[in-house]
Amino acid sequence: MVIAVAVKPSDQPKVVNLEEIGAVNAAVQNMLLAAHGLGLGAIWRTGKPTYHPKMKQLFNLREQDEVLGFIYLGYPEVMKEKGERTPYQKKTKWITADDPAS
Ligand SMILES: Cc1cc2nc3c(=O)[nH]c(=O)nc-3n(C[C@H](O)[C@H](O)[C@H](O)COP(=O)(O)O)c2cc1C
Repeated sequence: MVIAVAVKPSDQPKVVNLEEIGAVNAAVQNMLLAAHGLGLGAIWRTGKPTYHPKMKQLFNLREQDEVLGFIYLGYPEVMKEKGERTPYQKKTKWITADDPAS
């Protein structure tokens, strides 16, 4: 099964567009976690056609809406090997109040 995911940002001027997109991206991540929790395989995919105007047409989206990707779901035949992860320490910079960089 493939689930298409799109964001339809609020028209209210107070609402920040970036946050609308961020909220739907977070929803996708939760869907992936839920799928894995249920023993399903799931992957988030995009690709160039995702952002083609025809894709918006297909899903009846407005110009300001965006397709954010496709979630591919299924029962895995093989389990993926564990990937290499960069430790979070390498991606985190802690800043304290007296740090001149803050
Ligand atoms: C917005 C977005 C689009 C992606 N599109 C693709 C894609 O088209 N093809 C692909 O192989 N992986 C794509 N990925 C990456 C996979 O979803 C996945 O994150 C990656 O394979 C690493 O998986 P892992 O974190 O479980 O190791 C995309 C990820 C994101 C966040």
